[in-house]
Amino acid sequence: MRFENFTYKGNSLHCEKVDLHLISNLIGTPFYVYSKKSMIDRFKSFQKAFQDIPHRIYYAVKANSNINVIKLFTSLGAGLDVNSGGELFRAIKAGANPNDILFTGVGKTEEEILSGLDKNIFLFKVESFQELELLNYLAKKRNKIANIAIRVNPDVDPKTHPYITTGLYESKFGIAQELAIDAFKLAKSLSNLRILGIDMHIGSQITDVSAFKEAIVIMNDLILQLRSIGIEIEHFDVGGGLGVQYNDEPVPDVFDYANTIKEELKKSKCKIIFEPGRYLTADAGALITRALYTKNNRDKNFLIVDAAVNDLMRPALYNSYHHILPLNENDRNKIVYDIVGPACETGDFFARSREIKETKPGELIAIMSTGAYGFCMSSNYNSRRRVAEIMVDEDKFYVIRQRESFEDLIRNEKIIDQLFEK
Ligand code: LLP
Repeated sequence: MRFENFTYKGNSLHCEKVDLHLISNLIGTPFYVYSKKSMIDRFKSFQKAFQDIPHRIYYAVKANSNINVIKLFTSLGAGLDVNSGGELFRAIKAGANPNDILFTGVGKTEEEILSGLDKNIFLFKVESFQELELLNYLAKKRNKIANIAIRVNPDVDPKTHPYITTGLYESKFGIAQELAIDAFKLAKSLSNLRILGIDMHIGSQITDVSAFKEAIVIMNDLILQLRSIGIEIEHFDVGGGLGVQYNDEPVPDVFDYANTIKEELKKSKCKIIFEPGRYLTADAGALITRALYTKNNRDKNFLIVDAAVNDLMRPALYNSYHHILPLNENDRNKIVYDIVGPACETGDFFARSREIKETKPGELIAIMSTGAYGFCMSSNYNSRRRVAEIMVDEDKFYVIRQRESFEDLIRNEKIIDQLFEK
């Protein structure tokens, strides 16, 4: 079965052992639901695939940043890869040990760097010469030595969506490989930095794993060059990026990924760091939404549901495909629908010209593989309240984030009387 932890029992779609109708009856729709087991299984498969090389998984918090998800991965032994002061805050709130945290980001602010230094995080991944100087200056001010890795852009095409390609020179990320040696030399000359590693992250939703290998070969060469000039590199961070199957495209699993890159990784003689996000969480999640209306014009049948583009941006942003499953399995005829939300945007769609079983107002559907880059990319556009998040653990479920209230929407606003005095 494509979704091991989302299966029909009777006619009703369950997450693990919980009937999704039950959750909707209790908390309403829309909501995201995550299978704890799915996240654990993926984490363990990842570990198993690389068990014979020294490595550690740092979960990329940006993929799903609910503090319970973060805590689940740290409880399994993961470190964390954070990309902002906000993600660092979440990591600490989730009880993470600062010494297990990597700080990524092409544009860290002074405030963010200082908060990382003050919390004594494990390492900063530096992406420019200027950031090296600033980090050194701030570390000196705090009387600390900051551990660093330098993110290198190997200029390799990961053959994924252009918006999530990060390892080509046209993208803003990392330091160009030709300049990498100079960046390491500068880092070595700065008194309050300690070089620990080298880093890459070439993109996301990568399904051609040969791109990883190509980049690793380039990075291995850099590691050799660095060692030859007396710069020791302890760890090699290969980033995240392993894709998942959204439709029926062929997708490597983590063991194919491991088989393709492991020999090259061994040559680096480094401890390997991985930063998976999507692989660990995407298939664990679904967005459950209720059909409100159906209508048709000359060209189309529309199924209008109560979730919208603000709740799941991926289709609008990347034209991404997500399977749609009915919560009630039935033998009705199939109809070709555009499945759309209530927001005032033509880009507010979850599927276009998709053939699914006829769906009637009031019935529920699940938008699958939305556990990564789903809720965490949602917004309040159209003053829509962000939806609830649920974690299922076998036959129990927990609200891990409540649906927002209308008051939440204006919490940081107030009427300024002076504006209306004259
Ligand atoms: N490490 C770094 C430095 C990253 O920038 C990312 C993701 C990851 C790790 C995790 O990559 P993953 O294993 O999840 O592919 N919003 C887009 C994805 C953006 C990915 C950004 N960086 C989407 O919905 O497809």
